[in-house]
Amino acid sequence: MYLRLGINIDHVATLRNARGGEHPCPVRAALLAMEAGADGITAHLREDRRHIRDRDIERLKNEVNLPLNLEMAMTGKMLAIALKVKPHAVCLVPEKREELTTEGGLDAARFEKSLKPFVQKLQNNGSRVSLFIDPHPEQIDAAQRIGARAVELHTGGYAQLAVGSWQLAETNNPLLTANRQLLTAAKLASQHGLEVHAGHGLNYDNVGPIAAIPEIVELNIGHFLVGEAVFVGLAEAIQKMRRLMDEARP
Ligand code: PXP
Repeated sequence: MYLRLGINIDHVATLRNARGGEHPCPVRAALLAMEAGADGITAHLREDRRHIRDRDIERLKNEVNLPLNLEMAMTGKMLAIALKVKPHAVCLVPEKREELTTEGGLDAARFEKSLKPFVQKLQNNGSRVSLFIDPHPEQIDAAQRIGARAVELHTGGYAQLAVGSWQLAETNNPLLTANRQLLTAAKLASQHGLEVHAGHGLNYDNVGPIAAIPEIVELNIGHFLVGEAVFVGLAEAIQKMRRLMDEARP
């Protein structure tokens, strides 16, 4: 199955907001990403609007001819925005104001009761919902009971470990354990009929083993590519990531 690449453009907005004004424009980055071969655009409308703002979401929906994946927290205000904007997809993430980035997955098992009607409203409105969860069986079981169409497996834990320890012995290698956890979770989610996505902390060095998991059909990648764009340009960074994903795919 083809592996889609969603480009998260949040940090183009971070750079813009550092000085106020309009430059660099996340919509322009999304258009460039499309030309470079991106399959979708991902943007996280945080409650504190630290990067992406409401107007960016409207413009991304109206001016970019690619599926928009809106990441958001499970709040009434965000629900109202998503129902109005009708993005192609919504990814529900946990959100803490003090965190630098999304630190852990959504506890779907704990919030199952409230998530079910929330997800239903979004999906009835035409948005495919994915739950950003840690790769644990109880979270995948809960996502299925909730009725979400997809899960996005949090690769942050794996990515933090994926710094050159592939050569270590098989036993007690936390990186191999994290990788196996993702493999098992992807298989289980697919068996449950969920579409499987993955993302967070992915870069050129660690994307291969994730792209090689056959059940995963979408990766969402942002911070590394926006950083790399400073050196080689956004298009070249995206094209290289695309190449590495294709090479790793079985
Ligand atoms: N997927 C989700 C659900 C996220 O919250 C993020 C970060 O906003 C990403 C993917 C992309 O992560 P990164 O910016 O580390 O590539």
